Amino acid sequence: MTLSTRHLLGIKDLTAQDISLILQTAQEFKEVLQRPIKKVPSLRDVTIVNLFFENSTRTRISFELAEKRLSADTVNFTASGSSVSKGETLLDTVNNILSMKVDMVVMRHSASGAPHFLAKHIPAAIINAGDGINEHPTQALLDALSIKEKHGTLEGVKVAIIGDIMHSRVAQSNLYLLNKMGAEVVVCGPPTLIPKHLSEAFGVRVEYNLRKALEWCDVANVLRIQLERQNEVLFSSLREYNLAYGISRRLLDSLPKPITIMHPGPINRGVELDSDVANSDQSIILQQVENGVAVRMAALYLLSNRQNA
Ligand code: CP
Repeated sequence: MTLSTRHLLGIKDLTAQDISLILQTAQEFKEVLQRPIKKVPSLRDVTIVNLFFENSTRTRISFELAEKRLSADTVNFTASGSSVSKGETLLDTVNNILSMKVDMVVMRHSASGAPHFLAKHIPAAIINAGDGINEHPTQALLDALSIKEKHGTLEGVKVAIIGDIMHSRVAQSNLYLLNKMGAEVVVCGPPTLIPKHLSEAFGVRVEYNLRKALEWCDVANVLRIQLERQNEVLFSSLREYNLAYGISRRLLDSLPKPITIMHPGPINRGVELDSDVANSDQSIILQQVENGVAVRMAALYLLSNRQNA
């Protein structure tokens, strides 16, 4: 089986079959990652460049590891220390790199739509590793794999996406994915951090009361407050935010049933999640990170056209 798309620019462009194929392939790669030798020759002679124009810890390391586990040749680029600071355009930067015979590009950029722009201009397959406030497709896929592992299915699972929905590419990709895969979704956060059109655009319920959202859900996917993307003050202070929307151990223990806690990272401890919640048995945050490698191996492999090689 193959994907219906040549690039992975967003979950918006994937079919439910594409998502199932990536998750199933990721499960197979997870088995490889349990072996003493965690490496397969699937992408031998494939050259991949990781273009990170914006900071990253998890996504960048995860893609690099995924590429190494698949035996690809990799080149890493970060904007700091490059000729971008001398005024070089995105297209010139990428064309120069591609002239060195690169087959695939993994790109993170602070501008929404940057990987879509590149996809129109270059022949290599592109994977979006997060573009501005638009999408972060591999994060939604690893979130989905983690929910599936914990709850057995995505269909009918009740997921509350909590926090800064307005500035979150993780929220947008999760909303597309969970809708396509039949999960039930509620978004919860301060009214100033939830876009007005969201309810109609995604057919999801908006809940401003954190306790009600937590009492309803099986899974709480708690998002980071993205201070770097907020141009104006959208809530009074981090302390006020924590009082209204932070998840404490006491709040978790007062719920009618145990729920699963997720967070894409990096966590603002003591703001959206208290440390004893992030570190608790109910948290699958580190399983999410672990699943990131297998999901990215699956995406790279399926987009490489090496399945039939
Ligand atoms: N979840 C995520 O994208 O984390 P990084 O910004 O560290 O890659």
